[in-house]
Amino acid sequence: MHISGAIALVTGANRGLGRQFATQLLERGATKVYATARRPELVTVPGVEILPLDITDPASVAAAAEAAADVNLLVNNAGVAFGTDLVVGDLDVLHREMDTNFWGTLSVVRAFAPQLAGGAILNVLSVLSWIAFQGSGGYAASKSAQWSLTNGVRLELAGQKTQVTGLHLGAADTDMTAGYDVPKTDPAVIVKAGLDGLEAGYWEVLADEWSRGAKAALAADPRAYYNQQ
Ligand SMILES: NC(=O)c1ccc[n+]([C@@H]2O[C@H](COP(=O)([O-])OP(=O)(O)OC[C@H]3O[C@@H](n4cnc5c(N)ncnc54)[C@H](OP(=O)(O)O)[C@@H]3O)[C@@H](O)[C@H]2O)c1
Repeated sequence: MHISGAIALVTGANRGLGRQFATQLLERGATKVYATARRPELVTVPGVEILPLDITDPASVAAAAEAAADVNLLVNNAGVAFGTDLVVGDLDVLHREMDTNFWGTLSVVRAFAPQLAGGAILNVLSVLSWIAFQGSGGYAASKSAQWSLTNGVRLELAGQKTQVTGLHLGAADTDMTAGYDVPKTDPAVIVKAGLDGLEAGYWEVLADEWSRGAKAALAADPRAYYNQQ
C-alpha cells in the first residue's frame, strides 16, 4: 500500500491518534484525506476534507461511504474506553464499548469494503486485545473482538486484494489515557509506526514495548505474564 497518491479516510480524526493519522497521511503524500468525526466542527487539521461520521449510526456510516466513494485506504481509529468492570460494571456502558469498538468498526468496514479492492484497511487495536487489565475488562473484551474482526476481514477481503493491518499499542499520550499513571508514547510515534507498517505490507504492527511484550507472552502460561505485572 502506497500512501503517496492514496485517498484515505480516518475515523475519529478530531483528536488523539486520529488527528495524527490525518496529519501524517497528508505529510506522506496522500492525495486526499477525509478527516471524519461525529462532531466535524472539531476537526482542525489543515488541508483535509471534513465529513461527519458517527460509526455507531448506520445512516451516518452509509452517508459517509456515499460521500467518500473514492477512498482506497480506510483507517478505523475511532474508539471508546470507559474503564468498566465486566462483573459489576454498568451493562449499558459495556454495550457502548462493544457497539463502538467492535460493531462500529465492522459497520464501517462493511460499508467501505467494495471500494477498497486493491487498497487497505488499518485497524487501531490495543495491547488489551491480548491481555486483561484490572478496571478495563469491558474495553479489553471489545478490543479482543476487534482483533478477531481484523483477522477475519483480512481473510474475507484477500480475494479482492485488500490489505488489512492491525496496529497494537500499549499507551499513547491522548485523552483516553489521561487518568492512567503509566509510561505513554507520543501519538506521533505510534502513528508513524502504523503507517510505516502499512506501507511495508505488515499484517500486524506492534508499536511499543508493552504490546511487543504482551504478544510474546501469549504463547506461555498466562500466569507467567500476569504474575509479573
Ligand atoms: N491512547 C492509547 O493509549 C490507546 C491504546 C490502545 C489503543 N488505543 C486506540 O486508539 C484509538 C484512538 O484512541 P485515542 O487514544 O486517540 O483516544 P481519544 O483521544 O479518546 O480519541 C478517540 C476518538 O474516537 C472518536 N469516537 C469515539 N466514538 C466515536 C463514534 N461513535 N464515531 C466516531 N468517532 C468516535 C472520538 O470522537 P469524540 O471526540 O466525538 O469523542 C475521538 O475522536 C482507539 O481505537 C483506541 O481504542 C488507544
